[in-house]
Parts: sequence; structure tokens; C-alpha cells
Amino acid sequence: MSDSETAARLIAAARGAAANAWAPYSSFSVGAALLMTDGSIVTGANVENASYGLSLCAETVAVAKASAEGRMRDIVAVGIVGGMTGEDGIEPILPCGRCRQVLNEAAQAGRRDLDMWCSGLTGGPVAHYTLAELLPHAFGPANLGIV
Ligand code: THU
Repeated sequence: MSDSETAARLIAAARGAAANAWAPYSSFSVGAALLMTDGSIVTGANVENASYGLSLCAETVAVAKASAEGRMRDIVAVGIVGGMTGEDGIEPILPCGRCRQVLNEAAQAGRRDLDMWCSGLTGGPVAHYTLAELLPHAFGPANLGIV
């Protein structure tokens, strides 16, 4: 599968996941889709909480799902979309700093950099980054001798 086909598949899956965002406080829906080594996709959406600080980002939810399935080492690429619920988001949404660190755990565990495809909630351009570009000089499990 070409890079553009992978990007389109991940962005479509992330948009589908964003439909299940629980974001009644911010009205900002985020969807994440993880491409796994076997070609399958694991999705996540943000989960807000009335105790605001407990809210979970879409990317973190997706990584937690993959890890809970025993697949922490198997993530190869990520699609992320976000925007105000019910509005056409134009600008690509990039992962917050905490999610970059969470994704770095999976990247180092799998001994690979992650391709990151980012777009708006309903459309707009797709931007490509690698996790190493978004989180250079990362601290991770390798520093603790885990990988
Ligand atoms: N959010 C994500 O799900 N991922 C990010 O990378 C950035 C922010 C969520 C958290 C909160 O529910 C809403 O977007 C607004 O910050």
C-alpha cells in the first residue's frame, strides 16, 4: 500500500472514531487510528470528564487499547483528526505533548519511528510528520533499559 493510500485509510478511520468522541465540555472531537504491523487498525477518541483534568486524549485511548490487546510493539503509523464538533475543521490537528510521549513509548517498544498523518475533523489537507520530528531527543523506555 502506498503512503497516500495508508494516509487516506488512517484518516478515514480516525474520522469514523471521532464520531464517538465524548467531548461535551470542549466540543472538540478528536479521532486517532493506529496502523498495526498486521495491517489492522486500532482506533480511539477523546473521552472527557466532568472533572476536566481527568479527560483522555484520542491518541492515548488508542495506544491504551492497542497495549491492552498485547500490541504495544506493533504500531507503525498514526492518523489523527480533530476539530470543533459539527464544524468543518480546516487545519490539521497535531498531537498534544503528552500524547507524543505516549506514542513514543510504542515507537521505542517497537524499535521504529512512527509515520504521523494529521488532518481536520471533516476534511482539509493531510500533513505528514514522523514522531521523531514532533518529539525529538525523546526520553523513553530505552533510557530505562526496557528496549
Ligand atoms: N485532545 C485530544 O484528544 N488529542 C490531542 O492531541 C489534543 C487534545 C482532546 C482533549 C480534549 O478532550 C479536547 O481535545 C480539547 O482539548
